[in-house]
Amino acid sequence: MAPDRVIEPYIGLMSGTSTDGVDGVLADLADGTIRVLASASLALPDGLRHELLALNAPGPDELARAAQAANALADCYATVVRDLLTQAGLPAARVRAIGAHGQTVRHAPESGYTIQINAPARLAEHAGIAVVADFRSRDVAAGGQGAPLVPAFHAARFGCGEGRAVLNLGGIANLTVLEDPVRGFDTGPANMLMDAWILRHRNQPYDQDGTWAAQGRCHDGLLAALLTEPWFGLAPPKSTGRDLFSLAWLDARLDALPGGDRPQAADVQATLLRLSVDTIADTVRRHAPNTREVLACGGGARNPVFMAALARALPCTLTTTDAYGVPAQDVEALAFAWLAQAHVQGRPACLPAVTGARHATIAGCFYPA
Ligand SMILES: Nc1ncnc2c1ncn2[C@@H]1O[C@H](COP(=O)(O)OP(=O)(O)O)[C@@H](O)[C@H]1O
Ligand SMILES: [Mg+2]
Repeated sequence: MAPDRVIEPYIGLMSGTSTDGVDGVLADLADGTIRVLASASLALPDGLRHELLALNAPGPDELARAAQAANALADCYATVVRDLLTQAGLPAARVRAIGAHGQTVRHAPESGYTIQINAPARLAEHAGIAVVADFRSRDVAAGGQGAPLVPAFHAARFGCGEGRAVLNLGGIANLTVLEDPVRGFDTGPANMLMDAWILRHRNQPYDQDGTWAAQGRCHDGLLAALLTEPWFGLAPPKSTGRDLFSLAWLDARLDALPGGDRPQAADVQATLLRLSVDTIADTVRRHAPNTREVLACGGGARNPVFMAALARALPCTLTTTDAYGVPAQDVEALAFAWLAQAHVQGRPACLPAVTGARHATIAGCFYPA
């Protein structure tokens, strides 16, 4: 690192709806710079992964179990922080703050709450670095969806008014339309249903490179049944998660198909891929018609079958954020480093035009080092 340059290091930590692991970046955010200095990922231990998934649904002794899962997650976060500091050769004391998203287990903005499992005090204690957490609640309190949080960051990093849109392909797909005003909303599932389906049928956490989906054929009857979901027809801003798009949701629609017309498991996987692709492309056509280029990021950007299908379906060019200097895997974590800085500097980063809130709010809650 150049000794004559003053850097302003922040760490961002993200564990998304896929519940696959923790992605972290250490970034230099000095004077409007947004530059990744180091990145690291950690797969969640199986026990914690299963517990976090279980905590998405009501169950016994939830409060104590959630507290224990939060502590275990904070320990994973602390491991990623140590890895980042080692890579960058920085002492903890140099880092201004960590933005730690936590693991969403409930998202019910219409009922006035959103819950991310997290133990920011424990992370601050173990890392010796201040932590900003609970990024969504204040926006929800102001009548917003509390999501998506990343559009302001996308605008800062990828620029506005050039016909670009950022598409994050995590468990859920969300789109940021880089127009004035910036807009952002979920389009529906990206990988979440495919992950759940391959876990049930092949005991694999995800469909590596989309090979299983490529072996199946889209089942038109099932696709049509899935597309009748009213959520797809709602106008943005809107957000969703595991509360809606679960295996139970899929099973109900599979069970309603005529008796002799049940698709094979691989055909269901192919159909779920098509559902993600078609709902994304349809959203771009209807709600972002001026888009000239879609910049994909998140785990789905590494699935060649998903990307090829998307390139065919979209009415515009498809690339990844790598083409603009941010590795697809780092974008979400980098956003939380940026959001932590926005909190520390007292800048509102939840955009009311995006979340539907009554006014802009400062995202997050601060835990000193
Ligand atoms: N090589 C790959 N082939 C297919 N899918 C992949 C690949 N790499 C990652 N993924 C998908 O990306 C998901 C993780 O993406 P991520 O951006 O971390 O999502 P989230 O923010 O929801 O955690 C995995 O669950 C998997 O479905
Ligand atoms: Mg992930």
